[in-house]
Formats: sequence, structure tokens, C-alpha cells
Amino acid sequence: MGPYVNIEEAIDLLKAGQVVAVPTETVYGLAADATNDEAIALIYKTKNRPTFNPLIVHVLTLEDAEIFVEINENAIKLANTFWPGPLTMVLPLKPKNPISKLACAGLNTLALRIPAHSLMQQVLYGFKKPIAAPSANPSLFVSPTTAQHVIDSFHGTVPVLDGGPCRRGIESTILDLSTPTPVMLRPGPITLPQLENVIGPIDTTPPLHIKAPGQSQRHYAPSKPVRLNALTVAPDEGLIAFGSPVPEGAMITMNLSPSGHLDEAAAALFRVLHEMDRQPIKRIAVMPIPQEGLGVAINDRLKRAAAQH
Ligand code: TXA
Ligand code: MG
Repeated sequence: MGPYVNIEEAIDLLKAGQVVAVPTETVYGLAADATNDEAIALIYKTKNRPTFNPLIVHVLTLEDAEIFVEINENAIKLANTFWPGPLTMVLPLKPKNPISKLACAGLNTLALRIPAHSLMQQVLYGFKKPIAAPSANPSLFVSPTTAQHVIDSFHGTVPVLDGGPCRRGIESTILDLSTPTPVMLRPGPITLPQLENVIGPIDTTPPLHIKAPGQSQRHYAPSKPVRLNALTVAPDEGLIAFGSPVPEGAMITMNLSPSGHLDEAAAALFRVLHEMDRQPIKRIAVMPIPQEGLGVAINDRLKRAAAQH
């Protein structure tokens, strides 16, 4: 089988306990049967991901979610507003559940979402079981927003269901609803004001012991050094621009959104980071992105990309 598979082949791979990369509206996910320990182990091995870093589990309906976790009032309100969509909720696991302990890294909570991509929904529909899927990139690499990114970063060794470029282009917002006050664990396409509008105040101070272990400082990283808030550029730099005017003199310039739209910039971010990484430049310089709306999630990913090796 070549690296590209169709929906039936993707479902067959899942049934056989294999991994397959699948499209979602956020980024491509490396999917496996969430109830199969060996299949989950294969995700960790393929990504070279530390096994203390739990995975997000994908389901098709709120009723499916209720099989695995305790749903509370806030979760129902958020599900009604944002699912299917790029919001992951962390909820208490039910005592008896079939989810692989390895998938949730032994925690007593589970991160869950209903994805909005129709191909992913068809895979869930055909497979009839929950699907664990972290972003389909080797650990510490930039997340994939096209099938080609998956092929490139795993050198063609991982089968991919091609669903075109991801519409959102940035990983889901993660909200912990297992605590008395909900806690924002990862900014994403659904913004803090959007969430607070539905359920009221949310805690944004990061938990003392890191609750989402994947939220380590360095993440989403290209291989070139990244310089943020660049107002000028050097001739050996590649410039990631936003809006206009754009400082001149970079070896190459790619604009996330010439018109200054944050949703367009989010959708382009990882593709541009992938492309910049292939250019013969010394460093990647990034113009300032406003810290509002989707800009919060964009700046979060950029800050991690810029963290020291
Ligand atoms: O948009 C997305 O969320 C994509 C697509 C494929 O759905 N998936 C994704 O997964 O970004 P991943 O593995 O790259 O990020 C999962 C994050 C990690 O930071 C992990 O620590 C956190 O979710 N997480 C998973 N389970 C958790 C839990 N029970 N409590 C707290 N954080 C959890
Ligand atoms: Mg990831």
C-alpha cells in the first residue's frame, strides 16, 4: 500500500490495530483505536512521544462521549455551542471505561473532542469506536496541515487519508472542565472570550504542575532559530510577515495574511513554518501579531517555536 489510503482502507488499518494519519479541521492527526493498548503504543513509538503525554480522543456524538466521561452542565453548554469543532474538553473518566490507560497516560481524566472534518467523521462512523489522535508529526516538530507535511515528516512511512489543507490550521483549544473552575490548558481556534461567553469565568493561570504535559515550552518547532516581534530584517533571514507594510530586505518573505486577518494567518501558520524551514536562510524572523482573538493561539505557537533548543 502506498502512503495514500482511502476511507475504507483507513478504517481497515484502525481495525487491524495500525496507525493512519487522518485530516481534521485543525491539523492532521495520527489516528489509532483508543481502546487498543498496542495500537496506542504504536502512536507513541511512531511519534517518538513521551508516554506521560496523554492523547486526545475523538468521538462522533455527545452520547458517545458520555460512555467514557462524566459530562457536567458546562460541558453540555459548550458541546451544544462548539461541537463538532476545534474545542477539546478534559473531563473525569468514568470508573469503568474501555479507553486504553496508555492513551490517557494513567490520568483519571480524558481529553475529548468531536472533530468537524467530514472525512474524519466518516472514519469515526465506519470504525464505530473512539479514535485517539495526536497531531501527526514526530514529537517536537511542527504540526501538519497538509497530507504532504505528514509524508515529508515521516518519510512516507505513515499511511495518510488526504483531506486537503486543514481549514483552521492550528490545534484545538483545550479546556479542563474536571476542576471546580474551568482551566484553559491550550489556546486555540475557540477563543477565551467565546468560551467565557457561554460558561462564565475561566482560569488562565497555567497549573503549577503541568497538567497538559505536551505543553512544555519547546514545541511546534522548526529546525531554524525563530526571532519574534521583528520590525526590521537581516539579508540572511526569512521573514514571516503579517499585514502591511512589510519591512524590506529579507532573503525571502511569506505573508500570513497581507490583509491582516487573524483566521487567515492561523490557517497559514504551520504551512509557512514548514516552507520557511526548507529555505536557505539563517533564521526565521516573525513580525508582531496582535494578542487578540486568534492572535493569542498564534502567538502561543510562535513562542514555543522560538524557545531555545
Ligand atoms: O486539534 C487537535 O487537538 C489535534 C487534532 C488531531 O485533533 N490533536 C492534537 O493532539 O493537537 P496533541 O497530542 O498534539 O495534543 C494533545 C494535548 C497535549 O498537550 C496533552 O498533554 C493534552 O492534550 N492532554 C491530553 N489528555 C489530557 C488530559 N487528560 N489532561 C490534560 N491535558 C491532556
Ligand atoms: Mg502536537
